[in-house]
Amino acid sequence: MKRQDIEQTDPKKIIAGYWDLRSRSYSKGVTDSRDEEMEIWKRCLAPFITDIGLRKALDVGSGTGFLSSLLDDMGIDVICLDLSRGMLALAREALLQERRDLDLFQGDAEALPFRSSCFDIVVSRHLLWTLPDPVKALAEWMRVLRPGGRLLVIDGNWFDPAVRKRLGRGLSGILANFSKSRNPVPFHRFYDPIGQELPLYSACGPERYLAFFEDAGVKNVTLDRLSEANRFYKSHTSLSYRLANANALFLVTGEKGEQETKS
Ligand SMILES: C[S@@+](CC[C@H](N)C(=O)[O-])C[C@H]1O[C@@H](n2cnc3c(N)ncnc32)[C@H](O)[C@@H]1O
Repeated sequence: MKRQDIEQTDPKKIIAGYWDLRSRSYSKGVTDSRDEEMEIWKRCLAPFITDIGLRKALDVGSGTGFLSSLLDDMGIDVICLDLSRGMLALAREALLQERRDLDLFQGDAEALPFRSSCFDIVVSRHLLWTLPDPVKALAEWMRVLRPGGRLLVIDGNWFDPAVRKRLGRGLSGILANFSKSRNPVPFHRFYDPIGQELPLYSACGPERYLAFFEDAGVKNVTLDRLSEANRFYKSHTSLSYRLANANALFLVTGEKGEQETKS
């Protein structure tokens, strides 16, 4: 299936179509040092996970299961949810290979098929930027969190409009044509027509995330610049990847108030 074959104007269907096609190449990752990558993410996330006895997590927009596997290693029960059946199929393959027994759900991050207050922690990585209604999604994630539960959102300023960053992405695009790890799916053919309908697509710096967290009523919000993870990707990825994504990552965390009733 190609972008022009999708007779769709619904952004969610276009997004699901993109990630279905992208799943196989995405599962290969951006570095050859996956074990080290996992260890670094564990170190980055541990301070937000180990302090309040978290047991049950939802990984929303779980993709091929990177965060889910990592949380599983940390002794947390994880449920994975993703819109794309292609991504879920790859996740199932990877989890089976690693002998992990996690539940996978196909569903929408903005309308979760779970009852209220049933998770201790909701995590997502690289998802909010591609959602049509991030505030609705955050409200949903808060709904399924138990009072006092924690929200961990990792994302990146992927489309920073600064001239230097735009130039970096342009150069990266040219270099990517010669790279064996280049994205074989035409990203812009899928995303350019819908970009305007995704509030965090082109302006996705951490400040905007903080504002969205506030609008969704998230408590005790913190921002972490993930310096160790950013350093790792700077030294363990292709030049083309680095030019487009240097220092882009950040983590926003927050909590559901202890007093908040189930809705
Ligand atoms: C960039 S990938 C990130 C995957 C994974 N979290 C990771 O860190 O490797 C974005 C993922 O979000 C999923 N996604 C996009 N829109 C979604 C939605 N509305 N609900 C659930 N998942 C969605 C895509 O299918 C894709 O798997």
